[in-house]
Amino acid sequence: MSNCGAFPNAGGIRPIKYSDGVLRLIDQRLLPTEESWLEYTDYQEVAEAIRSMVVRGAPAIGITAAYGAYFGALAIETENYADFMTEFAQVCDVLAGTRPTAVNLFWALERMKSLARANPDQPVSNLKIGLEYEAMAINEDDIRINMSMGRHGAALLPDQVRILTHCNAGALATGGYGTALGVIRAAVAAGKDVAVFADETRPFLQGSRLTAWELQKDNIQTVLICDNMAGYLMSKGAIDAVIVGADRIAANGDVANKIGTYTVAVLAKEHNIPFYVAAPTSTIDLQIADGSQIPIEERDIREVTHIGEQQLAPAGITVFNPAFDVTPASLVTAIITEHGVAQGNYTEQLATYVRRSG
Ligand code: MRU
Repeated sequence: MSNCGAFPNAGGIRPIKYSDGVLRLIDQRLLPTEESWLEYTDYQEVAEAIRSMVVRGAPAIGITAAYGAYFGALAIETENYADFMTEFAQVCDVLAGTRPTAVNLFWALERMKSLARANPDQPVSNLKIGLEYEAMAINEDDIRINMSMGRHGAALLPDQVRILTHCNAGALATGGYGTALGVIRAAVAAGKDVAVFADETRPFLQGSRLTAWELQKDNIQTVLICDNMAGYLMSKGAIDAVIVGADRIAANGDVANKIGTYTVAVLAKEHNIPFYVAAPTSTIDLQIADGSQIPIEERDIREVTHIGEQQLAPAGITVFNPAFDVTPASLVTAIITEHGVAQGNYTEQLATYVRRSG
């Protein structure tokens, strides 16, 4: 079954495709200049694809890890349930060790493990079939969820709107359609006059390489800016709303997202511009009371000192490269989920939405 056929109205880019036992990922490291697909059937290689950013973006990481868990399960040779569960836990641990911040990774692996836990009486061969279907369901649910989030978010926007976004929270970061860019796509589909300003998002350039690429493909009016230009644009009255995605949202509504998001939120507050976060309930981590407890990934310093092979900084310079920051709930105007829009008392509303997802 092809993912592309399942949602005829969702249109657009699908970065993760699965059919006939093979996972295909568009290599996001090569965009926008090269559209190249890599194939996977081995869980260790799937783990490496997540670690090395072939695939990135919180929901996309979760979906990919779910397929990885299936491949790991498939390779387990025992017919004994207890032995299978021990080995399957080890497979999931390898996948869980790839990136620490986006909670969707752990959420998806937990969904895979609980399916296996819930079926101790099934032969191992049946469990493997069930895990394949679960991974496909996680993938397809994500697109449906994004479209629902899009509808809720679009309703918040005026008929004519200039939106600033940071990083890539689009089709490429999800099963398809996107979270923040899903809201933008839904607003365009609803006939609103939308213009997007895309932060380039140093150091990994998800904004210039990925957001600009996918919005251009969809003919959505887009202006690419460097990260340090957002304040100037806001001061000139050129931005009406900010919409970003999230990698993990704490129970109190604090939001971890791509490094630089906090800076944009502070600027938005200063200029009285609404700051919206669009994220599925799988990104909400009720186990974490507030943002101070969210683990922040630090990545290779080469992402800062180089662009491709081009060296930008003196050899040996000390570099700090946190991949995410935390925006306190007090700076967030609303959190858009598939179940509705949380505003004001996040603790209660987010818990209600998570419960609704089961
Ligand atoms: O390091 P990345 O590219 O995985 O970071 C991605 C982001 O920060 C996105 O904004 C976030 O995952 C939301 S994606 C729907």
